[in-house]
Amino acid sequence: MRKISVNTSTPYEVIIERGSLARTGSLIVGITDSRRAVVITDDTVGGLYAEDLMDSLSDAGIKADVFVFPHGEQSKSIKTLSDIYDFLCEAEITRSDLLIALGGGVVGDITGFAAATYLRGIDFVQIPTTLLSQVDSSVGGKTAVDIPGGKNLVGAFKQPKLVICDSDILRTLPEEELACGMAEVIKYGMIRDKDLFELIASHDITNVDEIMDELVYRCIDIKREVVEHDEFDRGERMMLNFGHTLGHAIEGWHNYTDYTHGMGVAAGMCMITDRLANKPVADALRKCVEAYNLPTGTEAPMKELLPFCSKDKKRESGSISYIVCREIGKAEIVKVPVTEFEKLMEG
Ligand SMILES: NC(=O)c1ccc[n+]([C@@H]2O[C@H](COP(=O)([O-])OP(=O)(O)OC[C@H]3O[C@@H](n4cnc5c(N)ncnc54)[C@H](O)[C@@H]3O)[C@@H](O)[C@H]2O)c1
Ligand SMILES: [Zn+2]
Repeated sequence: MRKISVNTSTPYEVIIERGSLARTGSLIVGITDSRRAVVITDDTVGGLYAEDLMDSLSDAGIKADVFVFPHGEQSKSIKTLSDIYDFLCEAEITRSDLLIALGGGVVGDITGFAAATYLRGIDFVQIPTTLLSQVDSSVGGKTAVDIPGGKNLVGAFKQPKLVICDSDILRTLPEEELACGMAEVIKYGMIRDKDLFELIASHDITNVDEIMDELVYRCIDIKREVVEHDEFDRGERMMLNFGHTLGHAIEGWHNYTDYTHGMGVAAGMCMITDRLANKPVADALRKCVEAYNLPTGTEAPMKELLPFCSKDKKRESGSISYIVCREIGKAEIVKVPVTEFEKLMEG
C-alpha cells in the first residue's frame, strides 16, 4: 500500500492500493467515529462495484444506504443534487455522518458539492473509479455541478476526508475512458516530471495496466504539491491546465460530442507544443500521445477555435494565460494580450 498525505486546510490521506475497495470499511473506521453513511454512485459503477463496497462497510459495522443516478455528465445537475439532498434528509443523515462517492469525476464532483453544502458541510470520502478521477478530480477539493449557462459554474472548495484509489477497478473501464485519463497522466509528465514522461512513453494503451499504480501515485503526488501551494486556485494551480485552453475550445467546437475531454487535452497539448517548443520535445509528445490512441490535432480550423479560447475561464480582462512546456518536465505560465495569443496560434 502507498499513501500520500495532502496538507491542505483540512489534511487527508490518499491510499493507493490494488484491491483496496474491499478494505474501505476498515479504512473509514480509522478516520471517523461515524457508523452511518450514504454511498452515491451512477448506474454503471453501482452495478459493478456497489455490492463489494456495501459488504465491506457492513463488515466494519457501518450502516449505509445507496443513492444511484444515471451515468453521464448530464446528471451533474441541480436536479440530481436536489434529489441527493432529499435522499439524505429521508435517510436522516446528520452532520457527523459520511457521504461516499463511488464513481468517476461526475459522481465525485456532485457528491463533494452535496457534502460541502448539506447541513453546511459534512465529511465525504472519494473512491474514484476512472483514471481521470484517480489522478485529477478526486484530489484537490474542487467540487461542482453544471448549470445551463456552463459546466462547473456552481461549486465549492471542499477537501475529502479520505481518498481510496484501487487500480484494479480501472480494468472495467472502456478503452476510450482509459485513454482520456492517460491524457492527464501525460500532462503531469510534461509539466513536472521527465522520468514519469519516460515511463509513460515506454508503454502504450495495451500494457499500461502493468504500471498503473506507479502512474497514479506519481500523478497524485504532483497534484498534491501544486494544490498544497495554491489550494484556492489563485496562480500555480493553473499549471494543471496545460493543453486545456485549446482542449476546451476543441471540445466546444465539436459540441462536446465526438471529442472527449482527454482527446481535447491531448490535441491541445500537441498543438501548443508544436508552436512553442523545439522539434524533439514536440515529436516526443506526439509519439507518446499516439501510443495511447489519442489525437495530436483536430480538423477544426484554428480561427474557429480562437473564439472558444477567448471564452475560457482563464481569460481576464483582455489577456489570456496559457501554459507552455519548452522542456519535458518544466511548465511556464505565460500571460499575454488575447490579440497576441491569436497571432501566435494562427502563425
Ligand atoms: N473536481 C476537479 O478537480 C475535476 C477535475 C477534472 C475533471 N472534473 C470533472 O470530472 C468529470 C469527468 O470525469 P470522468 O471522466 O471520470 O467521467 P464520468 O464520471 O462520467 O465517468 C465516465 C464513464 O465511465 C463510467 N465508469 C466509471 N468508472 C468505471 C469503471 N471502473 N468501469 C466501467 N465504467 C466506469 C461511468 O459510468 C461513466 O459513464 C467532469 O464532470 C469534469 O468536470 C473535475
Ligand atoms: Zn483535464
